[in-house]
Amino acid sequence: MGKMLCHAAILLFIVQLALAASVEEYKSYKNYKYYEIEGPKDDINALVVFLQENYEVPVFSIKNSTLSMIVAPELVPIVENISNEKKLQSKILIEDYSEIINEEKLKPRNGLGFSWTAYYDIDDINEYLRNTSKNYPKCTEVIVGGKSFEGRDILGLRINTPSDKKKPVIFIESGIHAREWITPATTTYFINQLLTSENPDIKALKEEFDWHIFPSINPDGYHYSHVTDRFWRKTRSKRGLECDGADPNRNWDHNWMHKGTSSNPCAQTFGGVKVFSEIETKSLSEYILKLENLKAYIGFHSDAQMLLLPYSDSKQHVDNYDDLKRIGQVSLDYGYKVNQAKYEGPATAAEILYPASGGSMDWVRHVKKTRLVFTYELRGYNFTWPAKRIPEQGDEVTQMMLGMVVEARKLGYFD
Ligand SMILES: *[C@@H]1O[C@H](CO)[C@@H](O)[C@H](O)[C@H]1NC(C)=O
Ligand SMILES: *[C@@H]1O[C@H](CO)[C@@H](O)[C@H](O)[C@H]1NC(C)=O
Ligand SMILES: *[C@@H]1O[C@H](CO)[C@@H](O)[C@H](O)[C@H]1NC(C)=O
Ligand SMILES: *[C@@H]1O[C@H](CO)[C@@H](O)[C@H](O)[C@H]1NC(C)=O
Ligand SMILES: [Zn+2]
Repeated sequence: MGKMLCHAAILLFIVQLALAASVEEYKSYKNYKYYEIEGPKDDINALVVFLQENYEVPVFSIKNSTLSMIVAPELVPIVENISNEKKLQSKILIEDYSEIINEEKLKPRNGLGFSWTAYYDIDDINEYLRNTSKNYPKCTEVIVGGKSFEGRDILGLRINTPSDKKKPVIFIESGIHAREWITPATTTYFINQLLTSENPDIKALKEEFDWHIFPSINPDGYHYSHVTDRFWRKTRSKRGLECDGADPNRNWDHNWMHKGTSSNPCAQTFGGVKVFSEIETKSLSEYILKLENLKAYIGFHSDAQMLLLPYSDSKQHVDNYDDLKRIGQVSLDYGYKVNQAKYEGPATAAEILYPASGGSMDWVRHVKKTRLVFTYELRGYNFTWPAKRIPEQGDEVTQMMLGMVVEARKLGYFD
């Protein structure tokens, strides 16, 4: 008896060890600071490069000459020191970032189903897609865009009202960067608008196109950002390298590894061990290649508040740049009417953000030759967006899609 108990105890101990090894500890970001630092561009860039090379910086962005950054408590003296030395203006806006993360967490739903006042993990989003296809069997179906490293399906919803004609296809991709939570939320919001809005313009928007809409094309990373690390950006592939995952928006087969990307597996912009090393990008690219009549490809990111045109790694303009700029501007004008939020652009990323190679938009444009490709950087403050304001962003994007289509149609892109 005693011996059996002892065996049981040993077994339990082994099971616990195995669990401890496989379940990573939740990263709370307790006492991480949110900084804003202003100063001459070169000094700001040097500070970022120095910190990134020597320490871990979960998120940062440089807009105009303001650096926004989340800083671990132990790095505060170093940041303060450099700021003092270079006479940069630094201030801490948020003392404990874990409070923001906790605030964002899904409140218990009490069986209320899906909504647009909370952020949902991938299983809920997929269930929403399946439910929706059941609720609208005549005009929707669940589609599988590919697979993830951990074996999930990349699920989307096709909205294609019955028609004799073959309609132009519009493809929407969102959530390629896991931590950009506002993008899947906005995308499901847009799906709901297409299906339920009584606005005749939105109804026409639904009916005119064959929509292929994917709220989260990096489902493993997205799940990981919910359960382990809110600032996870990459996929979750494991190759026995120093760090897991690759940046799925640096992994596509166009100018791979040229600009704005890293060969360091621990970098946020790690381009992967080879072109299409990530099953998510590889499988989705195969889905896209098979699509006939693809007229427009839209990607959603956050939170630079910009509209980006191809190509992301070059300041040279594509042959229909003037059209894209005009269509993009009308799209932004439509969006602006909703909340008076001003987006930068339309312009290439190399001009207004940073050059970045190996992204999905560039590949679609170059390989699939799709003429209308846009990347929308949605809004966000302090690296987050309050869940209760998802509808605000959702209504804006719905109008942006409408404006995009209206102007593109005028210019003959759907003929
Ligand atoms: C950054 O500068 C541009 C151009 O000077 C301006 O349009 C934009 O509003 C500025 N953005 C912010 C966030 O201050
Ligand atoms: C701050 O800078 C001074 C002078 O460069 C240096 O001696 C000191 O070690 C620095 N402290 C930290 C925490 O980096
Ligand atoms: C950013 O965070 C600061 C500090 O919590 C807060 O005062 C500010 O309102 C936030 N900005 C926005 C636009 O939400
Ligand atoms: C899906 O539908 C079922 C049955 O109506 C419901 O209980 C569930 O809450 C729905 N889930 C989502 C995510 O909408
Ligand atoms: Zn992104």
